[in-house]
Amino acid sequence: MRLTVTIQRFNPEVDSTAHAQEVRLDVGRGMTVLDALIRIKQECDGSLALRYSCRSAICGSCAMTINGSEKLACRTSLRKELERHGQITVAPLRNFPVIKDLVVDMAPFWRKIRDVQPWLSPGRPWREGPSGQVEAGEAGNPQFHNVDACIMCGACVAACTVHEVSRGFAGPAALAKADRFLSDPREARASTKARLSALQDEHGIWDCTRCNFCVEVCPKDVQPMEAIIRLRRASLERGMTTTGGARHILGFAELVEQQGRLNEAIMPLKVVGFSPRGLLRILPLGITMLLKGKVPSPFGHALPGLANLKSFIRRVKRAAPRA
Ligand code: SF4
Ligand code: SF4
Ligand code: FES
Repeated sequence: MRLTVTIQRFNPEVDSTAHAQEVRLDVGRGMTVLDALIRIKQECDGSLALRYSCRSAICGSCAMTINGSEKLACRTSLRKELERHGQITVAPLRNFPVIKDLVVDMAPFWRKIRDVQPWLSPGRPWREGPSGQVEAGEAGNPQFHNVDACIMCGACVAACTVHEVSRGFAGPAALAKADRFLSDPREARASTKARLSALQDEHGIWDCTRCNFCVEVCPKDVQPMEAIIRLRRASLERGMTTTGGARHILGFAELVEQQGRLNEAIMPLKVVGFSPRGLLRILPLGITMLLKGKVPSPFGHALPGLANLKSFIRRVKRAAPRA
């Protein structure tokens, strides 16, 4: 089969902007996008820059944007991409600084991973199991929710809608890593609290919009968004409720419990409280919402079936495991 691969090229030494290069190529059955790029580099244009190593979806170095979404080139089938999209376009990971062609600068990514201190601060007793392996105190076998499968490819960060507009955001990979160490029963209790406190800051767990893109693109099913939700839950359980994000969740739940629905007229008060500065800050947003008919009457009629809903919520709360 003969096909055209369109590659985004950029050489900072000679180019002011990126441009597309089309390469016609004969491809065989079972070839991956990475196979095609290596062939292009070896046979057509040796100046093409790309990063790869294992060719087996292990090292994480070949992540790039293929037909508009973040993928590992070494496990992306050319034929399937062509069937699905009718074309093969390849570009570097989005929202990372490009060093050359398909190679991006991962330094900001590694900095954020380092910032969450991806190592243990052991503080609880360990004991040796029957097979000689270390077991974790009374907590038994730790569950790391697949976060250890992360190969640090950066695809989730490239796809993250918050990282796109706010480069300071800790990002899905680093937050998933933070969750992994928080879930470790060998971690010292004091550092668990310190870890969680650090994540309450601006650019921490509450910035995530739960768009789910990190989950969709992750080649290892790490599910970073679920990790962020666990971190949020752990924060609330430990009484870390002063951030806007935490207050939003608590206010939302409270309103649904009281009124059976979200009430946008009262919600801002739940988030910023009665602080004059906070209220002034959200005033323009409130006026825009009002003009667009998005603010219901705070004294709207009660919803039918509210008593049932309240009793349902009470039962769920009773059944929920205690923190
Ligand atoms: S769910 Fe959160 S962390 Fe994941 S991509 Fe969306 S905003 Fe980013
Ligand atoms: S969480 Fe998934 S997408 Fe993100 S760096 Fe790890 S393996 Fe890659
Ligand atoms: S080359 Fe290692 S993950 Fe693709």
